[in-house]
Amino acid sequence: MYIIQGGETLSGEIRVQGSKNSSLPILAATILNGSKNTICDVPKIKDIEVMNQILLHLGADIVEKDNVIEINTENVNKFDVPEQLMRRMRSSIVLMGALLGRFGKAKVSYPGGCEIGPRPIDLHLKGLSLMGVNFTEGHGFLYAKASELKGAEIHLDFPSVGATENLMLAGVLAKGTTIIRNVAKEPEIVDLQNFLNRMGANVKGAGTDTIKIEGCRIQDLKQVNNYTIIPDRIAAGTYLVAAAITRGQIKLTNVIVEHLEPILAKLRETGCVIVNNKAEIELYVDKPLVSLDSLRTLPYPGFPTDMQAPMMALLATVEGTSILTETIFENRFKHAQELRRMGANITINGNTAIIKGVKQLSGAIVEAKDLRAGAALILAALAAKGETIVEGAAYVERGYENIEGNLAALGAKIIKKHKI
Ligand code: UD1
Repeated sequence: MYIIQGGETLSGEIRVQGSKNSSLPILAATILNGSKNTICDVPKIKDIEVMNQILLHLGADIVEKDNVIEINTENVNKFDVPEQLMRRMRSSIVLMGALLGRFGKAKVSYPGGCEIGPRPIDLHLKGLSLMGVNFTEGHGFLYAKASELKGAEIHLDFPSVGATENLMLAGVLAKGTTIIRNVAKEPEIVDLQNFLNRMGANVKGAGTDTIKIEGCRIQDLKQVNNYTIIPDRIAAGTYLVAAAITRGQIKLTNVIVEHLEPILAKLRETGCVIVNNKAEIELYVDKPLVSLDSLRTLPYPGFPTDMQAPMMALLATVEGTSILTETIFENRFKHAQELRRMGANITINGNTAIIKGVKQLSGAIVEAKDLRAGAALILAALAAKGETIVEGAAYVERGYENIEGNLAALGAKIIKKHKI
């Protein structure tokens, strides 16, 4: 649990961690080349621990030093993702594409992860089927097998991040050309493409609607030295909101401003002042903030669903009525009821939240039920009067490296305690 005494105005500088959502598929991608890869700026978070445990189980050798991971996948000889680890992290589904590429087979249980809606994997399965993969189910497991993984033309019904990544990974060692249309355009997809191309794969188009992969042989792939993961735009956004919600000031280093534009645009609309050069952003508040008539989560370059909960916390403290619509995940408003315990005035109507700003939130005992909800509750607590206890630190630790230390360095009164 986190124990927070609210009311401090935050001020200072943070170096943003490397991206969780880039690191996970890139670690999975190391299976493809069967070589030693060095990846830098990998965040020290629980989701990465889980991914590493899976890779160790598969037979990889891993050496970790600070934020650098050296991973040798030469001796990977298993192709099953252990059930308990898969359940802990839904994104381990991306291992399927990489395992199919290397071995032509994979065995996974149905994926776990944060409880934010049904989160099906039909798009992954449809795409892989077109590439020649046969699926059989039994006892909660999914067996995937391809006598020959072959290139295909795939049109995604929705630009799913995970499905795009899985199909890219499968395409690298498939025979022939894979063309995937209506793909996700998130920066993490571009990062994965860059990593794959560094190992000798031929992937083009990431960041646009269509990705084209010319399949190659494992002998054509080489090791990747010192690949640096992009900065985490969601962690950056979370810290910007920490400054905004306490009407303080913050400077962020290790950011790619372009990736943050969808978030910065909305923070500017609330009246936050944002000054940036290419690799640094400063945010400060010098006047009362204003509510937002319309904030909709959308695939990139729209406003990210992962920033919806943190933004809701901020809007709960801003005078006026804000309307926030979640279009990506069903059931991603669980934090609203916890924010209400802290005095927020939020009404949920289907996938829309109507937030009437209050003068002052107050401390309470609240529970995080997913990663970004946890971050939102910590943010709300920073602005609340008195003490807040945020339970469910395990969710927050999945995605944020040392959030309590970072916020404390900005002047927040926050400590993390493990329950006895
Ligand atoms: C990734 C991110 C997550 C982010 C999300 C949306 C990682 C590790 N996680 O999750 O932080 O919130 O993108 O930006 O990168 N869907 C289907 N069928 C499928 C796949 C997805 O219906 O086969 C639906 C999902 O239920 C959801 C929507 O598509 O409603 C978006 O999901 P997707 O883009 O796949 O998200 P993830 O890759 O799981």
